[in-house]
Amino acid sequence: MQRTLVIASDHGGFSIKAVLAPMIQAAGFNVVDLGPACTDSCDYPVYADKLCQHLLAAGEDAQNGQMLGILICGTGLGMSMAANRHAGIRAAVCTCEFMSRMARAHNNANVLCLGERVTGPGLAAEITRAFLATPFEGGRHLKRVQQFETVPQP
Ligand code: RB5
Repeated sequence: MQRTLVIASDHGGFSIKAVLAPMIQAAGFNVVDLGPACTDSCDYPVYADKLCQHLLAAGEDAQNGQMLGILICGTGLGMSMAANRHAGIRAAVCTCEFMSRMARAHNNANVLCLGERVTGPGLAAEITRAFLATPFEGGRHLKRVQQFETVPQP
């Protein structure tokens, strides 16, 4: 079955989104671009929330790698902070391919966060390819990831 990749940014991540979306589509994914459509200044929590709601509505697909998300802002930090407020979302800021592979293999990350002011388009593409290609290893990592959901909510 075709996998889905949901992508969003703020103005600070817009140009990397424009590079990654067609690349991911060409790799065979169904790409859903949740915006923005231009570089006007906007608030990253709005787009992080939009993407997380979309992923969580997909239920099990958002937990088993069938549907993944990418959020891009200036640093990746604000997007990851906003996304990780959602139960069931595991958002990881990655600045190299190793982090990206580990985020999938060990943490079952379902959202990759990138920083356009940190990572140029070439590196962002490599990090993304690694994220999309790496499955969650499960095993000993599963119970640890499940413990995220038992942390008391504020
Ligand atoms: C926008 O200027 C910038 O603050 C934002 O893209 C992001 O880096 C926040 O974490």
